[in-house]
Amino acid sequence: MKIKLNELPFKKESMSKLFSDEALDFHHDKHHAAYVNKLNELIKDSDFEKMSLEALVKKAEGPMSQNASQVYNHDFFWKCISEDGGAEPGEKLSKQLRKYFGSYDTFIEKFTKAAMTLFGSGWVWLAMNKDDSLEILQLPNSGTPITLDKKPLLCLDVWEHSYYIDYRNDRAKYVEAFMQVIDWEFVSSQL
Ligand code: FE2
Repeated sequence: MKIKLNELPFKKESMSKLFSDEALDFHHDKHHAAYVNKLNELIKDSDFEKMSLEALVKKAEGPMSQNASQVYNHDFFWKCISEDGGAEPGEKLSKQLRKYFGSYDTFIEKFTKAAMTLFGSGWVWLAMNKDDSLEILQLPNSGTPITLDKKPLLCLDVWEHSYYIDYRNDRAKYVEAFMQVIDWEFVSSQL
């Protein structure tokens, strides 16, 4: 298998503020794993087999690109959450958030609104443009900033598979819980 299913960067039981073990069993071990398996099936015995995951996201098309993006997005998503997360970001990122969104609270408000109003499945991102400006992206399906030439800083998976086990249809409760575990140290390290 060329593309690996990366381990979760935290112990399942440590993430209980956001996800139950059962939810992570399904989300990581089944959904995320299925994208990895499908991608490996699609690239098998082709020139794409030699490409990195990021290159596949950018250069492949159709299902190959969609599955590669889902693998990339999930790998990134798991890094955005931590049991020690939730505190406000450090000075450098706080300054950027103030500059582009007015305040940390307004950023949280706007990010939450983007997560709540994304119709159907998709991802909400905080991303950085080439001129260092920050923006919130509401990307449906397997959307990812790296195909838009933007640098990802933070993402939230708003596919129903992410919250149905723990929150049923209550996306708002899920988004609220996510805000309490954002690993701002990781997000800042991406600046
Ligand atoms: Fe997901």
